[in-house]
Amino acid sequence: MADLENNRETKEFYPKIPARHEAFFLKGSGALGWGMQDRLARIFRPQSGRTVMLAIDHGYFQGPTSGLERVDVTIVPLVPYADALMVTRGILRTTIPSASGKPVVLRASGGPSVLKELSNEHIAVDIEDAVRLNVSAMAVQVFIGGEFETQSVHNLTRLVDAGNRYGIPVLGVTAVGRSMTRDAKYLRLACRICAELGAHVVKTYYVPEDFETVTACCPVPVVMAGGKKIPEPEALKLAWSAVNEGAAGVDMGRNIFQSESPLAMIEAVRKVVHDGMRPDHAYDFYQTQKHERQEALVHSGT
Ligand code: R5P
Repeated sequence: MADLENNRETKEFYPKIPARHEAFFLKGSGALGWGMQDRLARIFRPQSGRTVMLAIDHGYFQGPTSGLERVDVTIVPLVPYADALMVTRGILRTTIPSASGKPVVLRASGGPSVLKELSNEHIAVDIEDAVRLNVSAMAVQVFIGGEFETQSVHNLTRLVDAGNRYGIPVLGVTAVGRSMTRDAKYLRLACRICAELGAHVVKTYYVPEDFETVTACCPVPVVMAGGKKIPEPEALKLAWSAVNEGAAGVDMGRNIFQSESPLAMIEAVRKVVHDGMRPDHAYDFYQTQKHERQEALVHSGT
């Protein structure tokens, strides 16, 4: 029980100092509840307003993708360098150390494998399991123009309703089918639909022409998906262009974990996204880091 005697009686109420009011730093997120904002502020660094999310959820439809055969060996060492992890609950529970303290963006849709029609997804996680896992957001694929377009949009809206009940934001991922033209017109349509229907963040691909119109007309933060592996200088240029044209960071997978030096690459991506380092300088940085890590390995005899 608190001590009731000899307590200090003097008080200071600072009546002349107006109550502090700080606008929340993320686009379109000012009216969200405290829990939602807190979770978003774990994913996006308040200092830069951006994130370097590491996407390792590919196994949910691709199985053991190159670079993800042994997540414990190749990915766990990268975890400290990511702002957030995009991951399935299976890999999270089995392989990611719970003490890593990393915000989790949980893959929450699934169903078909690469052998079937990919747009035929359903919600694949119960909201209560997301709460148990203490996730910072849930991710759902939306296939605008795809065969199961309406079903995938319905997955998004149901997940947004569930997330809103518990203060968990939803990341809408715009999946572009193989036969579709990946251009700004399509991405504007897909991103805007996700945001209009309640996604708190949208993930989409970069396109060289008019990408800034995609980010401009999307009322919530847009993060760039990396896409298939390309040479490191090009991937760094991609990240640089995306953030300079309005993206609130990146959610990259293969261009990090399939890199010759994944650790050096994620550090270089961080330089671009958070420090505004130009891609040519970031590539020099990547090479130096890669060389230093190789030297360290030689000296350690492994
Ligand atoms: C798709 O399978 C997942 O949503 C990935 O998280 C997404 O494609 C980003 O990974 P990557 O940079 O390898 O394209």
